[in-house]
Amino acid sequence: MYVLDLKPPSLVLVWSDIMRSLMGYLNRLYICFTAFLFSSSVVNNGAAGGLGVQVAQAQYLLGLGLADITGPVVETNMMGYASLAQVDTGLHLRQRSRAFIVADASNPANRVVYINADIAMGDTGVRRSIVSALSSQFPGLYSNENIALGSTHQHSGVGGYLENLLPQITSLGYVPLTAEAIVNGTILAVQRAHASLAPGSLSLGNTTVLNANINRSPSAYLANPAAERAMYQYDQDKELTLLRFDDQDGNARGFLSFFPVHGTSLYENNTLVSSDNKGMAAYLYESMVEPDVMPGNNTFVAGFTQANVGDTSPNTLGAFCESPGQPWDGQACDFVHSTCGNMTEDCHGRGPGFRVSDFESNRIIAQYQVDGAQTLMNQTLAPVSGPVTWVHTYMNMTFRQFALPNGTMVQTCPPALGFSFAGGTTDGPGAFDFIQGDNSSDPQNPFWEIVKGFITPDAPPEQLECQGAKPILLDTGYAHEPYNWSPDTVDVQMLRIGNLVILVIPGELTTMSGRRMRDAVRTALISNGVLGDDAYVVIAGPANTYGHYVATPEEYTVQRYEGASTLFGPHTLDSYIEKYSSLVPFLAAGSVGSPTSDAPPPELTSEAISLQTPVILDSPGFGQNFGDVLADVNTSSSYSAGDTVVAQFVGANPRNNLRLEGTFLTVDQLVNGDWTSVRSDSHPSTLYQWLRTNTITGTSTVNISWTIEDGTAAGTYRLTYFGDAKPLIGPLTSFTGHSSDFSVA
Ligand SMILES: *[C@@H]1O[C@H](CO)[C@@H](O)[C@H](O)[C@H]1NC(C)=O
Ligand SMILES: *[C@@H]1O[C@H](CO)[C@@H](O)[C@H](O)[C@H]1NC(C)=O
Ligand SMILES: *[C@@H]1O[C@H](CO)[C@@H](O)[C@H](O)[C@H]1NC(C)=O
Ligand SMILES: *[C@@H]1O[C@H](CO)[C@@H](O)[C@H](O)[C@H]1NC(C)=O
Ligand SMILES: *[C@@H]1O[C@H](CO)[C@@H](O)[C@H](O)[C@H]1NC(C)=O
Ligand SMILES: *[C@@H]1O[C@H](CO)[C@@H](O)[C@H](O)[C@H]1NC(C)=O
Ligand SMILES: *[C@@H]1O[C@H](CO)[C@@H](O)[C@H](O)[C@H]1NC(C)=O
Ligand SMILES: *[C@@H]1O[C@H](CO)[C@@H](O)[C@H](O)[C@H]1NC(C)=O
Ligand SMILES: *[C@@H]1O[C@H](CO)[C@@H](O)[C@H](O)[C@H]1NC(C)=O
Ligand SMILES: *[C@@H]1O[C@H](CO)[C@@H](O)[C@H](O)[C@H]1NC(C)=O
Ligand SMILES: *[C@@H]1O[C@H](CO)[C@@H](O)[C@H](O)[C@H]1NC(C)=O
Repeated sequence: MYVLDLKPPSLVLVWSDIMRSLMGYLNRLYICFTAFLFSSSVVNNGAAGGLGVQVAQAQYLLGLGLADITGPVVETNMMGYASLAQVDTGLHLRQRSRAFIVADASNPANRVVYINADIAMGDTGVRRSIVSALSSQFPGLYSNENIALGSTHQHSGVGGYLENLLPQITSLGYVPLTAEAIVNGTILAVQRAHASLAPGSLSLGNTTVLNANINRSPSAYLANPAAERAMYQYDQDKELTLLRFDDQDGNARGFLSFFPVHGTSLYENNTLVSSDNKGMAAYLYESMVEPDVMPGNNTFVAGFTQANVGDTSPNTLGAFCESPGQPWDGQACDFVHSTCGNMTEDCHGRGPGFRVSDFESNRIIAQYQVDGAQTLMNQTLAPVSGPVTWVHTYMNMTFRQFALPNGTMVQTCPPALGFSFAGGTTDGPGAFDFIQGDNSSDPQNPFWEIVKGFITPDAPPEQLECQGAKPILLDTGYAHEPYNWSPDTVDVQMLRIGNLVILVIPGELTTMSGRRMRDAVRTALISNGVLGDDAYVVIAGPANTYGHYVATPEEYTVQRYEGASTLFGPHTLDSYIEKYSSLVPFLAAGSVGSPTSDAPPPELTSEAISLQTPVILDSPGFGQNFGDVLADVNTSSSYSAGDTVVAQFVGANPRNNLRLEGTFLTVDQLVNGDWTSVRSDSHPSTLYQWLRTNTITGTSTVNISWTIEDGTAAGTYRLTYFGDAKPLIGPLTSFTGHSSDFSVA
């Protein structure tokens, strides 16, 4: 049964204790390191001798790094679809954070850090822990102002890390292990990027990527004014923008790209932890550059970050009814409501690999983004020069009054979600389970049973009026018990690198919202004299705090999922446009000072309720040992490309040890009498699947599989499983299992 633990160990407290004790040491390390960095760049300049011009061109110090952030891959709810049933059972691809640091070489304290984390969305609590650790390890360099926590907005990662209550409902509360993995790995990624800081140059460009996204709410998009729509060829953005990082000799070290497409290629019924199309794109690109390096050990860092993603979908074939036996089975869903026979449940978007699998769709959508990035990496792009500046502030959206450009005063509202929020989307139809089965005396969701009593009664009149066209399902802005259901305060942040300005957005802007936002801020940059006509503005998000969606006021009236999830009411977008535009003077060269800020969101992690039970016991079962082979590979004939090799082992719970920066499996090849690992659990060709076979005795099995890629060298191979078992008392024991040898012809 579930155990109610009202006082879980607090990550933040744990961290601050550790940080306090480490601080002195790290300060000394930092001083030594910066001293080294400056002396080494001076030495480089000296050694460069006659190449004075080239040295002068290295206007920036650049750092790139990545690290593993994969939380518990079993018995944990996955983040994105808000589906109680989507509990992970294994691993497809590890999640990683990729960090990009740009510092002004002439004034290295002027620097920004963009983190592209393979997670569904940024989060206030996770960001707070990351900022707190980095700002104490590197005082004066990294702070709440210049660190941006962006996401790929993928929907197949491990859940439970968000600080607010609403996204914790399906994960049965907060999952400290998930948050710790993200925090620790992201800090490591930034530390690695910092350690790699070296003089270099940046360049910028864009290209069109045609087949990787469609608009999943075209009926809402059509509510935007015809004259505005006529300015654009498509109902979603097709440009992929890329910032290229080169070393001083012009060799590429990586890139940060921006393209809007939902991380929903893998469906809601997938239970293998993965990184969806953007994480896959990063793997494909990085392994193309360094084919012989294990994923995660590469030095070239490919950043595929998210842009105005709100109404985009990777399910490019459209949405169809899967209603066996019904006359509408196989037909396109209803255009306005995305229903099948008046129900949302059967309406599913289809990706380009639909006939094969969602994993194939994921690979194709990833490859399109890789091709777009490579097209740009193959060109000479426009050089980026100019200062590195940033601005960050908090904006409290509770009845925030501001003037529209024509002078009319309007306001944003406390957060609330509309009915269509529960309808989901064509990428993931269906409801938060808590709107169903409420009349049952046998609750499906014990977490909901605990928290539902805290929900506030009906929204007060001022909230109803403020939210306008939105019929309120969950008035989360008034739900503060046991702790805040939704954030009322969001991070507003911009990073400027020369002529590039990254708008770090605490939510998912729809296509048209993103266009309005970019255009308004670009106009403000130029009219304030901060930048000239080459001002280049991109959207990045959902980042920092998860403020759900941002639809245009016109789309809001239609109340599709994106409108219903526009938390702060019809003027959410206008408020963001007004705020970001007003802050552009802080991006000017040499700008000093910070804008006035509303209070930061309160710390909630230490109060978080956590219902996930710990691992009690692993046992191998009578007469067996951990790692024993239960079902072996086929040794009587050889395998060839396209075949899948599987072995099943006596397993243990992988929650015992996340094996961060490591692997739960390898494929080993016999080379000159020695075993060499040639695949890890981060290769998309391998899968790790875990199954609890007896809850009482604690037995489980693990399947390791490898689908042999084209071009795999012929030879002798074996599958290896790495596990960690928990006895009832005492420390964990690590073990290894091997399949029999098999041959690949
Ligand atoms: C995260 O780092 C802290 C401090 O080093 C450590 O105590 C904790 O075990 C780590 N968590 C994970 C999941 O690795
Ligand atoms: C793509 O680059 C061109 C040339 O710099 C620029 O005119 C255009 O605005 C860019 N597109 C976007 C969407 O920023
Ligand atoms: C997962 O859902 C998709 C879309 O509904 C469906 O086509 C597919 O068959 C499902 N896969 C499994 C394994 O149930
Ligand atoms: C990455 O490289 C390090 C150092 O060479 C090595 O110890 C580690 O096993 C490698 N990781 C993987 C996943 O291959
Ligand atoms: C769907 O709803 C409409 C309007 O209420 C109704 O006319 C129609 O019969 C319904 N269709 C089905 C399949 O229930
Ligand atoms: C980039 O250049 C390489 C090497 O010439 C080529 O193989 C590749 O196809 C090019 N990629 C694109 C997308 O143009
Ligand atoms: C100002 O603009 C808003 C939004 O476009 C519009 O609703 C309002 O009527 C305008 N007010 C005036 C006085 O023109
Ligand atoms: C719960 O709802 C179902 C279906 O709507 C209904 O058949 C059942 O009688 C209800 N149970 C109670 C206890 O109200
Ligand atoms: C935001 O403003 C409201 C209304 O003034 C206030 O009740 C709330 O505490 C504020 N939120 C924060 C995080 O300060
Ligand atoms: C192994 O492969 C042979 C030849 O394809 C086949 O006949 C046999 O059934 C396989 N054995 C197992 C255990 O799959
Ligand atoms: C695991 O492997 C066994 C033996 O090959 C097989 O029967 C079982 O279906 C596999 N389980 C999964 C989840 O693939």
